[in-house]
Amino acid sequence: MNSWREYDISLRRQMVEEQIIRRGIRDEKVIDAFLTVPRPLFIPPEYRRWAYQDSPVSIGEGQTISQPYIVALMTILLDLRETDRVLEIGTGSGYQTAICAKCAEEIFTIERIQTLSDRAQDVFQKMGLPNVYCFVGDGSKGLPAYAPYDRIIVTACSDTIYQAWIDDLKEGGVIVLPLGREMMQSLIRGVKKRGRIVTENHGGCVFVPLIPDRFSP
Ligand SMILES: C[S@@+](CC[C@H](N)C(=O)[O-])C[C@H]1O[C@@H](n2cnc3c(N)ncnc32)[C@H](O)[C@@H]1O
Repeated sequence: MNSWREYDISLRRQMVEEQIIRRGIRDEKVIDAFLTVPRPLFIPPEYRRWAYQDSPVSIGEGQTISQPYIVALMTILLDLRETDRVLEIGTGSGYQTAICAKCAEEIFTIERIQTLSDRAQDVFQKMGLPNVYCFVGDGSKGLPAYAPYDRIIVTACSDTIYQAWIDDLKEGGVIVLPLGREMMQSLIRGVKKRGRIVTENHGGCVFVPLIPDRFSP
């Protein structure tokens, strides 16, 4: 067990060096989070050998864990402070959630697929992350019961910034999401100013689609 852990730590360091630092991300808090969170734990055993690959990896249910660099970039764009309460739409594997949980006070994360949420909760428990709260449902409706949030991160692509997200976000708060559809998506950082979202574009990206309830079978 020890040797597996040591092997994993050296691969983790290599991932951080080659895929994150070399691409210009230097924020110590974010780098520390990447060095402490074991990425393979979030991936089912049949796909785990690709855990440190420089790409998204399947997690089953037709979903993916995002590429490490994209997770880092979204975390940097969120600009998390220790006191922040964060809403995440799309728990997926839970890896992005765990990275955010190392950098902020509380993470409320919502996933539409029960089995993925259950699996992620299992990992959060094993890792001892007491500041993560998991919900199953349609994240396009936000999570008003625990609003307002300082930050919102959406990890599936949406062709709109839902009013529920704007309502749930504090004035001055930040939302980061892949905006667009299929192969035409941009990574957007928005700031809520006087009740409206003012956006900046941070380049192209590819995410699985957000599926609101009205499209579910
Ligand atoms: C790219 S994956 C998330 C990757 C995640 N950040 C990670 O690190 O593994 C997107 C997730 O969004 C979920 N999703 C899609 N539509 C949703 C919705 N309406 N509400 C909540 N989750 C949704 C998908 O089931 C999927 O697990």
